[in-house]
Amino acid sequence: MTRRKLVVGNWKMNGLKRDLGEVRAIGAAAAAHPGVDVALCPPFTLIADAVAASPGLVIGAQDCHAADSGPHTGNISAPMLVEAGARTVIVGHSERRADQFETSQDAWAKAAAAHRHGLHVIVCCGETEAEHDAGRAERVVQAQIEKSVPDEAAPDWFTLAYEPRWAIGTGRTPSIEAINAMHAIARAKLKQLVGGEAARGIRILYGGSVTGANAGDIFAASDVDGGLIGGASLTAAKFVPIIEAAAALG
Ligand code: 13P
Repeated sequence: MTRRKLVVGNWKMNGLKRDLGEVRAIGAAAAAHPGVDVALCPPFTLIADAVAASPGLVIGAQDCHAADSGPHTGNISAPMLVEAGARTVIVGHSERRADQFETSQDAWAKAAAAHRHGLHVIVCCGETEAEHDAGRAERVVQAQIEKSVPDEAAPDWFTLAYEPRWAIGTGRTPSIEAINAMHAIARAKLKQLVGGEAARGIRILYGGSVTGANAGDIFAASDVDGGLIGGASLTAAKFVPIIEAAAALG
C-alpha cells in the first residue's frame, strides 16, 4: 500500500494574528505540491483565522478534551474544534505528557473523541532521554502505542507520530537507521492492535529537530511517512523546504 507523505506543522504556544501571512504562504506551498498532504496546527485561538486565511490548507489543533462538553475549565472539546474549522488534532504530545501529566490512556480517550467527531487524529509517542540511555526506548514506545491507539484506528483517520523527547527542539536527531528501526517496531505494534492491512496503511511521522536540511534523508526512510515539525514550521521560509523535500520523494 502506498502511503502519501504527510507533513504537519505544530506551532505549539506560538502564533498571533500578525503571523497569518505565514499561514497563507504555507497554504500556497501546500497547494503547489498536491502530491504531499500538509497540515498546520496553530494554537486554538488562531484556528478559525487560519482557516479563513488559507481555506485549502488543513488546519488542526494541538489537543482536545475527551468529553464533548462539561465542567472542564480551560479545555477545548472536539466539537468545538470542528466548529472552528479544524480537520485534524494532535493528541498525547510529549509536552502535554510532561507539562499536563497526560497519560497514554488520556491520549486514547482524546483520540476516540476526536474520531467520533470526524477529525483526523495524530497520536504521539516517544521516549525520554533517560529511557533512551537506559535502552528502554523500544519498550516505552510499544507500551505507549498499546495504550493510546484505539483498536479501530485506520489509515483514513489515524496517524502515529514518533517523537523522541530528547530530539525535540534540541537540534539532535537519531540516525536515519535508528529512526527507521523504531518506525518498523511501531508498525509491528500497530499490526498487533489493528491488523496487518490497517497497519500497512497508517502513516508514521517522525518528529524532533526536522529541518529543511535533514527532511529529505529522514523522509526517504522506508517506514517514515513524513514529519511532525515544531520550530521549523513557524515560518514559511523554514517550513516550505520541508514540504518540498517530501514532494521530491513523491
Ligand atoms: P521541533 O521540530 O521543534 O524539534 O519539535 C518537534 C515537535 O515536538 C513537533 O510536535
